[in-house]
Amino acid sequence: MGLSTVIYIASSVCYILEDMSFDKNKKILQKKVQEIFRNNRREGFSIFHGKKYNYIAPADREYLYQWLWDTAFHAIVLSHFDTDQAKQEIKNFLKAQREDGFLPHIIFWGNKIVLQHWAYMESKLSLRPKTTAISQPPALALAVETIYKKDKDRVFLKKVLPQLARFHRWLIKDRDPDGDGLVSVITSYESGMDELPVFQYVLGHRKSGDLKYWYYHRKPDILNLVNQFESRQILDQDYFNVEELLFNCVFIEASRALSRLFLTIGEKKESSYFAKVAKKAENSLLTKCWDEKDKIFYSLYSKDEKKAKVKTVAGLLPLFLDGLKGNQLEALVNKHLLNPKEFWTEYPVPSVAKNEPYYNPTQGLRMLWRGPTWINTNWFIVKGLRKHGLNKIADEIVQKMLKMIEKEGFREYYNPETGQGYRRKNFGWSTLILDLL
Ligand code: GLC
Repeated sequence: MGLSTVIYIASSVCYILEDMSFDKNKKILQKKVQEIFRNNRREGFSIFHGKKYNYIAPADREYLYQWLWDTAFHAIVLSHFDTDQAKQEIKNFLKAQREDGFLPHIIFWGNKIVLQHWAYMESKLSLRPKTTAISQPPALALAVETIYKKDKDRVFLKKVLPQLARFHRWLIKDRDPDGDGLVSVITSYESGMDELPVFQYVLGHRKSGDLKYWYYHRKPDILNLVNQFESRQILDQDYFNVEELLFNCVFIEASRALSRLFLTIGEKKESSYFAKVAKKAENSLLTKCWDEKDKIFYSLYSKDEKKAKVKTVAGLLPLFLDGLKGNQLEALVNKHLLNPKEFWTEYPVPSVAKNEPYYNPTQGLRMLWRGPTWINTNWFIVKGLRKHGLNKIADEIVQKMLKMIEKEGFREYYNPETGQGYRRKNFGWSTLILDLL
């Protein structure tokens, strides 16, 4: 036996062993995830809704209700070991769909009074709101496609697709007043990135952290309440009208998922409709939101479609789009993502670029999305990188996420420089790591 044969056999054995330990680690991780989901599950009968409920809450304290995009992320993770439960998450959420197709960002299940002050600012006037009156990134169709790939359940598709199609149609009808295909959010809370400094920029109060900040930040919510959350009326008044990047990237790829799924159940007309919806919005995003000078994407605000020039993780989200290519792809990756002065921190990807004056890597005082790394936005970035064949960078981010999670557990968010975990423990969507391994 020659030396090269010995080396070959030895390296194959190492490879197999490494693979086995990776598999073992994945199993351990999955067990922990199952435990978290068991612990965060809530079920019962809500007298306010007159309906039974059964879902996984984001955490076992503070976040006890059912959130829209959290539901999608939980379902994606569940699809790895329990597709029935994954489908249940989605079906439970769709129970709160309004007649006109709207889906809320939170459903207040249960029978207790809702104590959080913000719930009353984000819901129509009521002593005990059933849901909020604002929405969240439309990620449910992405989850449905992930589940379908696992169990090929067409009955489930036939049940949920028409409902998701109605939600997307509602967004198009109520949230795209200028008809360019991009949909607008009417409060920062709809973007899922509550206090992302982009919105502070939009609201014209560019100084950080003082008391006045909260006045500016919450003013649109109060005006929305006065306007009874009538989208067209709100967008017409133009006090908060943001064609936000993350929301639209999710909308575009979720519309594409709908298009593919409708085709699998033989609904060609719906399929081609949603393919067109996605294409139109994507073309607008790739042209209008691109800043040739800074070589990054920005959200647009007001009827004049001004650029909100703050570099945040949302500016990298177009990586998740099928249609991103050429210079734009190259610049997002090399000029921004891999730039240690911006997003390439020890534990990427920070929610705000390091060289922005707003950047704060720590927990912050009651302000979310001001710098820390979140697992769900990383999920979009990693998926996007893999879509474009950039597997090495994707794997590096995943390894760092794994390191953070192994050290600190499944926290709500993490310090992008030290990996320290913050706020809620055993946080639902931080289990998305399982979907990336
Ligand atoms: C925070 C996040 C929001 C999420 C919610 C529940 O408010 O900013 O995106 O949906 O928590 O996890």
